[in-house]
Amino acid sequence: MFFCRMKKTGQMSDKKDNMREHASGAPWRNFYGRLKGKHLRASQETYLKEDLAALSPGPVDWDMNPTRKPLDLKSLFGGKPLWLEIGFGGGEHLVHQAQQNPQAGFIGCEPYINGVAMLLGKIRAMQNDNIRIHPGDVRDLFDVLPEASVDRAFLLYPDPWPKKRHHRRRFVTAEHLEPLARVLAPGAIFRVATDIPDYVRQTLETVPKHGFTWLCESPDDWRKPWDDWISTRYEQKALREGRVPHYLTFRRD
Ligand SMILES: C[S@@+](CC[C@H](N)C(=O)[O-])C[C@H]1O[C@@H](n2cnc3c(N)ncnc32)[C@H](O)[C@@H]1O
Repeated sequence: MFFCRMKKTGQMSDKKDNMREHASGAPWRNFYGRLKGKHLRASQETYLKEDLAALSPGPVDWDMNPTRKPLDLKSLFGGKPLWLEIGFGGGEHLVHQAQQNPQAGFIGCEPYINGVAMLLGKIRAMQNDNIRIHPGDVRDLFDVLPEASVDRAFLLYPDPWPKKRHHRRRFVTAEHLEPLARVLAPGAIFRVATDIPDYVRQTLETVPKHGFTWLCESPDDWRKPWDDWISTRYEQKALREGRVPHYLTFRRD
């Protein structure tokens, strides 16, 4: 499972890490976030045990798919457009979008198992069957998504990594944006929400370098949330603490 492939702290240089790999052949991908909180409720343990496997998008992990065979998306969603949410947190936005858009199939990625358990609780209460979950790092999913297979991607309040020396851990770096650009179809929409001004700077600087155009004609385009928006847990915290959300929309060239 994904737990064994992730390293909590970066004691090694990136250069050394890039040369390392796991016994399965998986490259060594540092993950600096949290994988598990203190406590899972008994009901959440049950959701994880009973529901998670059935919601798998297919073999994503290296030990199950060492040759990185692409996922069979046709059999997963019957040819529906594929929408991807990266780091769905508690899953409120993912469930909202999946309910509003039964014409699309959704894959959500989230390594924080407490967040996965929260999403599973919400999925039990919904009618649609258009969400699949990768309970791990989106970089592993990128490996097995066919080129140009994703029609929309959401990156909502990615980890801010405020210290300058940690900026290279941010999602908006070549390590993530190159494979994201590969899996997005031409014309696909990529939405980024963040409350961190320096994250806005880095996003606007780096994302267009990877084959995206920022769709912005007036300040309202980044100040106002999207029409189909539902505020996430992280956004609620940011608002309580007086930070200002920015809503950035890109189109894959
Ligand atoms: C600040 S939280 C925001 C969560 C949620 N989107 C929200 O707005 O409430 C960022 C989330 O991204 C997840 N994340 C970080 N790196 C990731 C990666 N490589 N793949 C998938 N998710 C990742 C973290 O585990 C964390 O839950």
